[in-house]
Amino acid sequence: MGMYLENKTIRLRTVDRGDLKALSLMMSNTDIARLSGEVYPITEQAMEEFYEKAQKTDERIWFLIETISSNKIIGETGFLRIFMPWRTADYSLIIWEKDYWGKGIGTAVANMMLDYGFNYLNLHRVAIGVVECNKRAIRFWKNMGFLEEGKQVDGFFSQGKYSDFVMMRMLEDEYRKGQKDRE
Ligand SMILES: CC(C)(COP(=O)(O)OP(=O)(O)OC[C@H]1O[C@@H](n2cnc3c(N)ncnc32)[C@H](O)[C@@H]1OP(=O)(O)O)[C@@H](O)C(=O)NCCC(=O)NCCS
Repeated sequence: MGMYLENKTIRLRTVDRGDLKALSLMMSNTDIARLSGEVYPITEQAMEEFYEKAQKTDERIWFLIETISSNKIIGETGFLRIFMPWRTADYSLIIWEKDYWGKGIGTAVANMMLDYGFNYLNLHRVAIGVVECNKRAIRFWKNMGFLEEGKQVDGFFSQGKYSDFVMMRMLEDEYRKGQKDRE
């Protein structure tokens, strides 16, 4: 098992080949997949590619979210499109198990990952794209201190219609100021 970050209730750890079966079952929840803009079905080859990408740490750093009490995988989180010459990355967080929403887990995971991103990876800018219909996520990211930068009008297509993609960001200085304000 690879490097992990943890608090009292959850652990973030790297993806093992043995996780792929449980992950593909979890990821086949199309209601949740749609919230993050996913469209394609999960095939064995798609899972293999997911695994390969998750092992490649220069452009992508991926963790599974696991409960400490029962070692149950409930979601995934990671940085993608990491480009160190610009110190930028996109960020992703999906709690696939709905029963675990609204308990502060997302906040804890995002806090761990932002600390990791800004204080260990030395990122300068972390960006998120959220489908406009995902009101819960937009509110969540605003609560986390992300700022809206604009919208990609008709940036994605789902349920028979085009919708906007809301682009959000957090800069290094904004992160540090947010941390200071919380002290
Ligand atoms: C969006 C998402 C990551 C949020 O994670 P979460 O664990 O549900 O979020 P939190 O519990 O930390 O915070 C959500 C709410 O619970 C509240 N909360 C925080 N700690 C809490 C606790 N201990 N008990 C109860 N509620 C709590 C927060 O204040 C917040 O309330 P608000 O929405 O009224 O402001 C998660 O719902 C998810 O993965 N959704 C599906 C996929 C998705 O949309 N991903 C984002 C794509 S961009």
